[in-house]
Amino acid sequence: MKEKWDSRGAFVLAAVGSAVGLGNIWRFPIICYKYGGGAFLVAYIIALFLVGIPILILEFSLGAKMSASAPLSFKKINKRFTWIGWFALLIAFIIVTYYTVIMSWSANYLIHSVTLKWGSNPKTFFFGNVLHLTQSIEQTGRFVMPLIIGLVVIWIWIILSIWKGAKTVSKVVYVTVILPWIILIVLVIRGITLPGAIEGIKYYLTPNWSQLANLKLWQEAFTQIFFSLSVGFGVMIAYASFLPKKSDVVNNAFIIGLADAATAYVGGFAVFSVLGFYAEKMHVPISEVMKSGPQLAFITYPAIINNLPLPQLFGILFFLMLLTLAVDSAFSLVEAGVAGLQDTFNIKRGSANLLIAVVAILIGLIYTTGSGLYWLDIVDHFMSYYGLFFSALLETLVIAYFYRKKLKEYANSVSEIKIGFWWDIIVMFIIPIISIFLLVNSIIDTAHAAYGGYPRWAEIIAGWLPLILALIFAFVLSHFTNRREK
Ligand code: PFF
Repeated sequence: MKEKWDSRGAFVLAAVGSAVGLGNIWRFPIICYKYGGGAFLVAYIIALFLVGIPILILEFSLGAKMSASAPLSFKKINKRFTWIGWFALLIAFIIVTYYTVIMSWSANYLIHSVTLKWGSNPKTFFFGNVLHLTQSIEQTGRFVMPLIIGLVVIWIWIILSIWKGAKTVSKVVYVTVILPWIILIVLVIRGITLPGAIEGIKYYLTPNWSQLANLKLWQEAFTQIFFSLSVGFGVMIAYASFLPKKSDVVNNAFIIGLADAATAYVGGFAVFSVLGFYAEKMHVPISEVMKSGPQLAFITYPAIINNLPLPQLFGILFFLMLLTLAVDSAFSLVEAGVAGLQDTFNIKRGSANLLIAVVAILIGLIYTTGSGLYWLDIVDHFMSYYGLFFSALLETLVIAYFYRKKLKEYANSVSEIKIGFWWDIIVMFIIPIISIFLLVNSIIDTAHAAYGGYPRWAEIIAGWLPLILALIFAFVLSHFTNRREK
């Protein structure tokens, strides 16, 4: 008997938990600011409805109808397509190897919050004391013990959260999805009541409409939608496969898409209110304190925390929020892989969990060295700008031209909201065209110069090689899936 969610609520929470992650808090607000504030929001909402929700409908319908993980779902369409499911899972796996390292940094910072250990120079603390960052990618540096310990602890947490699959996840998400929301609301209230906050929020939201003519804005809006909704990784297919028969899929896709976007939007208030406060305090323009990604969470935020009343409490809340936001995204990536392995090999659940954890920790060790941040940066770029679109493109093409009618029939037979002709047009033309556009754009970007100014050889090792290996492994694993009588 295939495992099932405890309730519809558990499924919705788990899917929202996967979607809502680090991407919402540290990526969305910054690109929103960079590409015209309110204008970016408009583009983001268009991207959500134009590709995000339609592809969520696709993945939910596929997983629910086939009641199978990504590779087996594609196999049921045609054996020639099994590898596409595996490719998605392998990209997901590569992502989780570094996503968990970022969580390990957060775990370290959670502990540092107790004593505000970053002191008055959070930048030196992060790059020097925490990461032991080397001068360049050529110097490997040494393994950093606290990061390794953090990584192992995070993996234990992940494995325990998915130990019995959907059954365990159904319970865990009530805490790990709801808690960070509560903390986020607390942080927003704290943020907007600080002096200078309004200036920060103005920066975040004031629309610069001319940006809508900027192609980059659209590229970022669509990239963010794909990554943030966790589509194209086989995750939503696996999660939908644990739904009881006849569960609504269209309605759920709308709920999850909107909840994810809403969280990102609210996250912006938490980030920009405190940036406004900090800029005022330091007497500098906000643009100077704006940093994206790791810099924002591990340098700017600690600096801001230093200036708040009850800084320890604020630090603990912030890093606890990051960790609990990230953990459900991380275990969804693992769960999708476990489901794939179980559909293919006669492997016990516990063994599949452990196998993935051990291999992921071993790979993750690379990012715990002094040059880890550089490698993480390249791998992240290649997975989110190439692997993801490639996987989404393959997935939609197969569905659009080999299985669209049946899938639509299924979705409409179980869902309250019916999908119409618009969905066919989106899946057949719009998503493939946009994915190709994004892929070509990324290729042009890196053809000019290696990504991020790194040497070409590093880009080949950390960017192209994992993609090629993922393709090769996808074919090898699909051979095993196809041999099975399922
Ligand atoms: N959606 C997550 C975020 O925004 O941080 C990241 C993620 C989770 C991507 C799960 C992909 C995935 F399958």
